[in-house]
Amino acid sequence: MSAPNIETIVSLSKRRGFVFPASDIYGGLGSSWDYGQLGVELANNIKKSWWNWVVYERDDIEGIDSSIIQNRNVWKYSGHEDTFSDPLVDCRDCNARLRLDKLDIDPADGKAMCSNCNSKNLTDPKDFNLMFRTTVGAASADDDPTALAYLRPETAQGIFINFKNVLDTSRRKLPFGIAQIGKAFRNEVTPGNFIFRTREFEQMEIEYFCRPEDAPRVHQEWIDAYGEWLGTLGISSDNIVHYEQTEKELAHYSDRTVDFLYRFFPEREEKEKQFDELLGIANRTDYDLRVHSKKPEDADGKRINPDTTEDLSYFDPQTNERFYPYCIEPSIGVNRTLLAVMMDAYTEKVNDKGEVRVILKLKPELAPIKVAVLPLAKNNEGIVTLAKKLKHDLQPLMRAVYDDTGGIGKLYARQDEIGTPFCVTVDHESLEDNAVTVRDRDTWEQERVSLDSLKEYLQKRLS
Ligand code: GAP
Repeated sequence: MSAPNIETIVSLSKRRGFVFPASDIYGGLGSSWDYGQLGVELANNIKKSWWNWVVYERDDIEGIDSSIIQNRNVWKYSGHEDTFSDPLVDCRDCNARLRLDKLDIDPADGKAMCSNCNSKNLTDPKDFNLMFRTTVGAASADDDPTALAYLRPETAQGIFINFKNVLDTSRRKLPFGIAQIGKAFRNEVTPGNFIFRTREFEQMEIEYFCRPEDAPRVHQEWIDAYGEWLGTLGISSDNIVHYEQTEKELAHYSDRTVDFLYRFFPEREEKEKQFDELLGIANRTDYDLRVHSKKPEDADGKRINPDTTEDLSYFDPQTNERFYPYCIEPSIGVNRTLLAVMMDAYTEKVNDKGEVRVILKLKPELAPIKVAVLPLAKNNEGIVTLAKKLKHDLQPLMRAVYDDTGGIGKLYARQDEIGTPFCVTVDHESLEDNAVTVRDRDTWEQERVSLDSLKEYLQKRLS
């Protein structure tokens, strides 16, 4: 089977309830998507895996959850008001609105070409700020600059402005990190490709603070660590390449950024174009802590940030030095991770009747449903009662469902397609021998397991 493309995942997602087009009954809202009953479980399991990995299993990271709407000054001093923009051009021939930095350049004359109609008749670029604007307060008017606020375009700033709060209350010493999962909003010029690029999305970000001289080593340690974590999600290293951003591509705060690109577009002819960004790991230097700090004067004697009340520098009691820590930032989108997890897990298998079956080989930890309890005969009261009781006994321990809405072959196929690692079938013999059949999603092998040991058996195989 060739690698699944995004369209295959879109179709599976809509068919089975992972992801639905948002506002669909009103004709949708360009590139907005809602998680359905299975998508929300998969996304939650990805976030749980990440949070366990960074906050619980390490000794050096605290978690926070900051507000989406902050004081406008956060975005003024972070640099987002001035620089968080895309260069926008309009095609004079087909009226398409395009991001100049994403267009192909004709090597003959160095001119950009419209990706819609190949015309080079484009307007001059204009900077378009990607932050969504809103106003705060009941009395606010749309044009009142004192009421202007933004929906955050990254969760990171919520961490920087809480640096001192966390430092003082947790009594941390360098190096340490602060992690956050939350929604971010960008008025993308060209959203698209399903949940790959949307205007509302979720990020999982770590700001890891260290001494400036340690930053290059710490940067590399996080690059290695993310490779390993993606492996635990079932994402194959064959589908990942590392990309070192060029000077021109670096964000205004970054000294060095390494992106992990995933093979989101296997159908594209040119190998290079098959890969696009899954996550980025940046060395943000001391940029953010400095810009949010009360620094009465810079080298020219000018006041730099008159609006903040705090100095976010760090005092090292061992060396008696005060300085601004450097920050290494691994930043990954939940939506892109979910998409990569589904693409990597998608497989097809031919059954003994020659029919093609979809199996979503999700890691058990990520599977939306861990076990499906299926009665072999839905009209047999004894079987149905036992199966329902079994489902209730299992559900405090793992996400379990009961399903009797089809023949057993169909029920197995449904569970394979949504990635349920185990099906437990209750049959006539179960009433006699107090045992059930456990079927493995990936091998389709079946094993008879006594009811007394079923919980233990499943928990062991799921962990
Ligand atoms: N704080 C750094 C930062 O926000 P970024 O590279 O702009 O860096 C980090 O974003 C990650 O967030 C990306 O690698 C991607 O996974 C996700 N992301 C960014 N923009 C997105 C969008 N429009 N739709 C979905 N995910 C997005």
